[in-house]
Amino acid sequence: MTKPGKHRIAVCMGTACYLKGGQQLLDELAILLGAKAGEITDDGEFSITAVRCIGCCGLAPVLTVDGEVYGNLKADQLAGIVAKYRGK
Ligand code: FES
Repeated sequence: MTKPGKHRIAVCMGTACYLKGGQQLLDELAILLGAKAGEITDDGEFSITAVRCIGCCGLAPVLTVDGEVYGNLKADQLAGIVAKYRGK
C-alpha cells in the first residue's frame, strides 16, 4: 500500500476508451509526468491509475482528475489539464 498522489488521475481503459485512444492518454501522461499507470509522480502531486469503464463511453476517451470527468480527449490536451491541478 502506498499513499496516493495529491491529485488522482484515472484513465479509462474500458473497451470504448481503449479503442478511441486511452493508451495514447496514458503514454502522454507518462511523458508529461514521468509516471505510468499504478505509479505516483516523484513530487507526489499525481497518481495515475488505469480503470475500467466509468460509464461515460459516449465521451471516449475519458479520464478523471479528482473525480472531474474530461472526455473526447486528445493527448495534446493533457498538458493543460495537468497544469490546472499542479500546485493546487
Ligand atoms: S469505456 Fe471508458 S467510459 Fe466506458
